[in-house]
Amino acid sequence: MAHKWNIFAILLCALAVNGQTSAKTSGPRNLIFMISDGFGVASEALARSYTQQTTGYPSNWGSALDSILVGLTRTRSNDTLVTDSAAGATAFSCAQKSFNGGIGISADGRPCGTVLEAAKRKGYVTGLVTTARISHATPAAFAAHAADRNMEDLIAQQMVGIGLNSSANGRGSVDLMFGGGQCYFLPKSNKAGCRSDDVDLWQTAQSQGFTTLNNRQQFDSLAFDAPLPVLALFAPSHMAYEIDRNPAEQPSLSEMTAKALSLLRSASANVPADHPGFMVMIEGARIDMAGHDNDPATHLHDILEYWKTINVVRNFISLNPSTLLVSTSDHETGGLTLGIEPEYAWYPSVLKPVQRSAEVICKELHRMTSRAQLDRHIAGVVMPQYLGITDGSAAEVSTVSEAIQSGFKACKRAVGHVVSARARIGWTTSGHTGADVGLYAYGNGSEAMRGSMDNTQVGGFLASYLGVDLDSATKELTNLSTFQKDFEKKRRHKHEHP
Ligand SMILES: *[C@@H]1O[C@H](CO)[C@@H](O)[C@H](O)[C@H]1NC(C)=O
Ligand SMILES: *[C@@H]1O[C@H](CO)[C@@H](O)[C@H](O)[C@H]1NC(C)=O
Ligand SMILES: *[C@@H]1O[C@H](CO)[C@@H](O)[C@H](O)[C@H]1NC(C)=O
Ligand SMILES: *[C@@H]1O[C@H](CO)[C@@H](O)[C@H](O)[C@H]1NC(C)=O
Ligand SMILES: [Zn+2]
Repeated sequence: MAHKWNIFAILLCALAVNGQTSAKTSGPRNLIFMISDGFGVASEALARSYTQQTTGYPSNWGSALDSILVGLTRTRSNDTLVTDSAAGATAFSCAQKSFNGGIGISADGRPCGTVLEAAKRKGYVTGLVTTARISHATPAAFAAHAADRNMEDLIAQQMVGIGLNSSANGRGSVDLMFGGGQCYFLPKSNKAGCRSDDVDLWQTAQSQGFTTLNNRQQFDSLAFDAPLPVLALFAPSHMAYEIDRNPAEQPSLSEMTAKALSLLRSASANVPADHPGFMVMIEGARIDMAGHDNDPATHLHDILEYWKTINVVRNFISLNPSTLLVSTSDHETGGLTLGIEPEYAWYPSVLKPVQRSAEVICKELHRMTSRAQLDRHIAGVVMPQYLGITDGSAAEVSTVSEAIQSGFKACKRAVGHVVSARARIGWTTSGHTGADVGLYAYGNGSEAMRGSMDNTQVGGFLASYLGVDLDSATKELTNLSTFQKDFEKKRRHKHEHP
């Protein structure tokens, strides 16, 4: 018995030594961390069943995510069982629970060093890719520190390095940013700007060496080995939902990801063999926003695009095997469920003919000037053309028409509920829930992620995979102010989305 244990101990020792040497000498290692914002396990089942039914795949077919499921992530924040995206992303980026609304700060309000900042300091090339504004909660929590997620003037500033000395090059910690939200980089005096001051961050970024782009043509002509840093923001605010996206105007999440991975690999390639690789966070941001609107077809199409992105990443990993993919969600949104009593059924095919998001539909309805015109447009255009409903009832028309009197949000939910009721899809809330979410991992090191993990443990795992020290990144932030000047005054006419 004693003999056996000795051999076991020797084996363990050998493994440990081996692991250490190979971590030092195995060449660049890359981390691709993906966040499907507001995507619960019912969302995965929705998209899976939809795909089976509309393509004729067998009933045991699984998605690109299904085949790499490793566990569940628990999502609570410091101050509540139902997190928001700011605290949710901070749990991943700092491996600490913040309060709802907190961006890259601890529960006690102090800035916390993030895995992206620590990676940058260690020599990794870094990136953020999202379909939301780049200064929105999820990407912000990796590269900024703010007492409130709505301090987007401050957040955008920090993302190009102003006020943050966290990297030697004086331009912040992020080498590549792809997403929406150019308006927070433009001064108040600019028609396209939404800042409350006259700071021109677009110009600041350029003077710090960033290549800046803001349209599809520039994206297409950006070489796959173009030098970093690059700041590419393709919409004034969030990018379009996938269901509405005009491919001539904006790239998709999968297209942005393919180009980002190529740029990051190329920027981290021309270095000694033992040099770190890259770390990137990629967010399917608007899966969540469609959940807030209880808009199932829009939710679906952003999920299908996220799956496509997962495939892009998996292909990248097959060519670059020293890369780890981790994909999870910050929280569930909508309390989405499949099936409403008394039936034991739900109907994916109802989602197939839907052509537009409730957001775009309600913007159009908002322009109608009379109730009669509104009813006519809903019955004659919205139902048959946008939602594919040819037998719409007077009751369905009037719920939408009445909802719009109570505002834009109510309109979006009413449109979403018309489709959901027919598909027998249920929603409990227009906010988030405290349910666990799926945890997915693939590639080098993924075997170590298994089971039920707290969101902060996921963050801790990311840091240890990269071999970075979050505490020393935190120390460098000691004197950073996390408050935006005159914030309370400004926040009144901002913000939409919790
Ligand atoms: C919240 O933060 C406070 C202060 O840091 C801490 O004492 C408490 O344990 C935290 N609670 C949770 C649930 O994380
Ligand atoms: C994966 O990482 C380990 C170190 O953790 C390394 O020894 C191994 O070579 C890597 N595998 C590949 C395929 O890169
Ligand atoms: C913070 O400020 C104090 C006082 O000005 C200074 O001594 C210290 O070096 C600063 N720390 C960092 C990390 O910048
Ligand atoms: C960053 O460095 C500059 C100049 O070295 C200094 O004035 C500023 O206070 C520093 N900021 C922080 C947050 O440490
Ligand atoms: Zn949300």
